Amino acid sequence: MDNRIITNEELEEDKIENIRPERLSEYIGQTEVKENIEVFIKSALIREEALDHVLLYGPPGLGKTTLAAIIANELGSNFKTASGPSIEKSGDLAAILSTLEPNDVLFIDEIHRMPRFIEEILYPAMEDFTLDIIIGGEGSSRSIKIDLPPFTLVGATTRAGDLSSPLRDRFGIISKLNYYTEEELTKIAKRTSKVLNIDIDDEASVEVAKRSRGTPRICNRLIKRIRDFALVEGKSCIDIDITNKALTKLKVDKLGLDETDYHLLRAIIEKFNGGPVGIDALASSIGEEATTIEDVYEPYLLQNGFLKRTNRGRMATEKAYQHLGIKRQGTLF
Ligand SMILES: Nc1ncnc2c1ncn2[C@@H]1O[C@H](COP(=O)(O)OP(=O)(O)OP(=O)(O)O)[C@@H](O)[C@H]1O
Ligand SMILES: [Mg+2]
Repeated sequence: MDNRIITNEELEEDKIENIRPERLSEYIGQTEVKENIEVFIKSALIREEALDHVLLYGPPGLGKTTLAAIIANELGSNFKTASGPSIEKSGDLAAILSTLEPNDVLFIDEIHRMPRFIEEILYPAMEDFTLDIIIGGEGSSRSIKIDLPPFTLVGATTRAGDLSSPLRDRFGIISKLNYYTEEELTKIAKRTSKVLNIDIDDEASVEVAKRSRGTPRICNRLIKRIRDFALVEGKSCIDIDITNKALTKLKVDKLGLDETDYHLLRAIIEKFNGGPVGIDALASSIGEEATTIEDVYEPYLLQNGFLKRTNRGRMATEKAYQHLGIKRQGTLF
């Protein structure tokens, strides 16, 4: 867990206030995914059958859990949740599956972290709605089949590549969520402010959108913190002044970069002359785990062209030099 204001990881606070949209019509952006899912939901409702299994993948904070809950809502079905790492024994999964009612939505978050032998129990459950369980001890054990009601599994993962192909193949609908555009995040900023009962003007919502790293979760968090500054200063509307002031205090720059990003880019530029530098050397130079850099720090910097990944390692781009106001040193070649 990191404590950056712009972290895209879910913090405890994010779970409390209910700013999650509950209907498809309130879900902003992801237009293609949304339009397709809407058709599949309508069709399932017409057929009075369970919706096909859905796999949602994409970076943290883009709305996978939110969309899964919306799917259940739109189907008028129960929404049951579990998470990959918490299903440790076959009995854990059997217990969850045996509570399902017809056409329920079972959401499994971080589905790539489910143990392989649990996955194998899921295959017949997904394909034929049957649960094969082994009862009895050694020598006298036998396997029995239990029928399950038809249900929809919605799996979410930040790493689709880590999913085994037999599991991936059992999803009829596979949707990738993408980073949000500035326009979409502007709408999200306005919607969230409304839910939090505070006004926001156009200029301020665009500014927040620009600094949200393409991620609704970050946008919402920034809005909450700016709201705090606004309230304490007795302002009833979030305007550009309070937005700039709050975000300066929170050390989130014009493009959503924070001190950690600066630290990383500076290390590449100053200690490794801009790179290329191998991930392990970079990690030890800033005292971080290589995987943390890869999963948490890097994606936004890569996505936005501050960082380039080459087969000889990471390199700071011209954009990074300019943004940090550092002049490029003469190179040796
Ligand atoms: N399309 C959207 N429109 C409006 N708000 C959204 C949208 N998508 C996400 N949000 C907001 O962003 C927050 C984060 O979304 P959510 O928790 O669904 O992300 P996630 O993809 O499940 O993340 P993780 O990978 O960490 O589980 C939610 O609380 C929700 O309020
Ligand atoms: Mg989630």
